[in-house]
Formats: sequence, C-alpha cells, structure tokens
Amino acid sequence: MKKITAVYPGTFDPVTYGHLDIIQRASSLFDKVIVAVALNTSKKPLFTEGEREDMLKHVTAKYKNVVVDEFKGLLVDYAKKKNATVIIRGLRALSDFEYEFQMSLTNRKLQPDVNTIFLMPNEKYTYLNSSLVRELAAFKADVSGFVPEYVRKKLSVKLKSL
Ligand code: COA
Repeated sequence: MKKITAVYPGTFDPVTYGHLDIIQRASSLFDKVIVAVALNTSKKPLFTEGEREDMLKHVTAKYKNVVVDEFKGLLVDYAKKKNATVIIRGLRALSDFEYEFQMSLTNRKLQPDVNTIFLMPNEKYTYLNSSLVRELAAFKADVSGFVPEYVRKKLSVKLKSL
C-alpha cells in the first residue's frame, strides 16, 4: 500500500504544546511526518536553527514516525524532494484562515499534487503562539503550561544570555 509522508513546516521559535498537539495528530494519521524548520522566513528568531531543531527532536522523540529537518527555499520544492504529498498546517482560529487559505492555494498552484491538510489543535491551545511564549518568558512569567519542560529551561537560559 502507498505510504504517505507529510511535512509540517514552521519557524518553531520555540515549539509549544500547540505544535506538539498537531504533531501528535499528524503522527497518528500519516506514515511519516517531517517537522521542517524554515530557515528563510522574514522573522528574526530568538533561537538558532540548531537550537530549534534540537528542542523539536527532544520533544518528538517518542513519536517513531516523526523526524525533524530544516529547509530553505520554497516549501513545495522541499516537499517534492522528500516525496511528501501532504503539507500539515494547524488552524487555531478564524484569524489563521485568510493567511492559510492564501498559502495553501499558492502552494497548490505551484505543486498540484501536494495537498495541504489542516488540523485543529485541542481548544486549550487555540490562543497560543511562539511570540506569546517568548514575551511571557522574557517577563519571567511561568510558561510551563505552554511549553515542555525541556523548552522552558532552554528559554530561561537563552533569555539570561541576552
Ligand atoms: N500552536 C501554537 N502556535 C502555533 C500553532 C499551533 N498549533 N500553529 C502556528 N502557531 C504559531 C507559530 O508559533 C507562529 O508564532 P509566531 O508568529 O509567534 O512565531 C505563528 O503561529 C505562525 O506560525 P506559522 O503559521 O507556522 O508560520 P511560520 O512563520 O512558523 O511558518 C512557513 C510559515 C515557514 C510555513 C511559510 O512561511 C513557508 O512555507 N515558507 C517557505 C517559503 C515558501 O514556500 N513560501 C511560499 C508560501 S505560499
């Protein structure tokens, strides 16, 4: 039977419980899930690529069909190179829709045989994003409800070093 590989792209600066929720769902749906750290977004990440990948590897280690990688350039080119036919995106709120709609249709135009599939995280994570976590951590708020302990420690060390 055909094996389906899905790519879950993002900046993951840092990975949160919301991302992990999506990864867990994708892992149960697809044969292989590649969590792909984007290297060339317009964002100025707090963590280096290596640090973001390290945190992702650590927190996804228990999912045997999940691998962590990085990519530069167009997402659809990366998906094609990896023989992935699915792009996973999380949909948290209506506010995500317009951007996701545009991205998904553009990607489909560029690569018609790669489909975007949207997964909804548990409702308790629908308000979460990485900027919020970074800001809370910078003000020394407790972020243990938003990120795994490994990530919480890395945030604390990183922010102290700035
Ligand atoms: N839980 C918690 N937070 C989530 C989340 C979830 N389930 N899903 C998304 N987020 C957060 C992210 O942490 C991020 O937060 P931040 O802006 O505070 O850092 C925010 O929501 C947006 O995330 P996302 O939509 O994943 O954007 P991104 O910048 O991380 O990734 C790419 C966008 C990399 C997928 C996209 O720019 C891309 O494909 N780039 C490659 C170039 C390309 O192909 N361009 C053409 C696209 S049509």
